[in-house]
Amino acid sequence: MHNRTHFFLLIIFPIIFQIFQTPTLAFDEDKFRLFTYTVHIINGLNNNDNPLIIHCYSNDDDLGEHALWMKNEFKFLFGEHMFKFTHFWCVMRLGLKKKTIDVFRTGYESVYCHYTGNCFWSTREDGFYFSNDNESWLKRYEWY
Ligand SMILES: *[C@@H]1O[C@H](CO)[C@@H](O)[C@H](O)[C@H]1NC(C)=O
Repeated sequence: MHNRTHFFLLIIFPIIFQIFQTPTLAFDEDKFRLFTYTVHIINGLNNNDNPLIIHCYSNDDDLGEHALWMKNEFKFLFGEHMFKFTHFWCVMRLGLKKKTIDVFRTGYESVYCHYTGNCFWSTREDGFYFSNDNESWLKRYEWY
């Protein structure tokens, strides 16, 4: 009995203590980022009367304001966290029109974008179109 107690205190406890002290075993955010995605926001308008002004965010990021002319795109790349809900949204403005779109959500867009690693959003006169291959488009939202 005594020997076992000593064994625990002298051998096992220091090992356990050591494990918890080792910095490499500390929680590392980036190890939980398995899949990477690129989100493309495209000006799919058929005229250059006004630029498309976009401003994208996540809970951790402000990707800044960008003006896109016809056929131009803004894209960003990120790693989706395994255990957390990833959410990116963009405020889109065209002349006096304004709309906020969820461009990437875990369990929604991620399901489709997973196949190609890409989400495409084409902003047009009549609304917002979504694609995961830049070829087949589905209208997802109206401006109003
Ligand atoms: C998407 O398709 C357009 C039109 O065919 C092309 O110009 C553009 O380069 C493509 N973008 C990507 C990222 O594949």
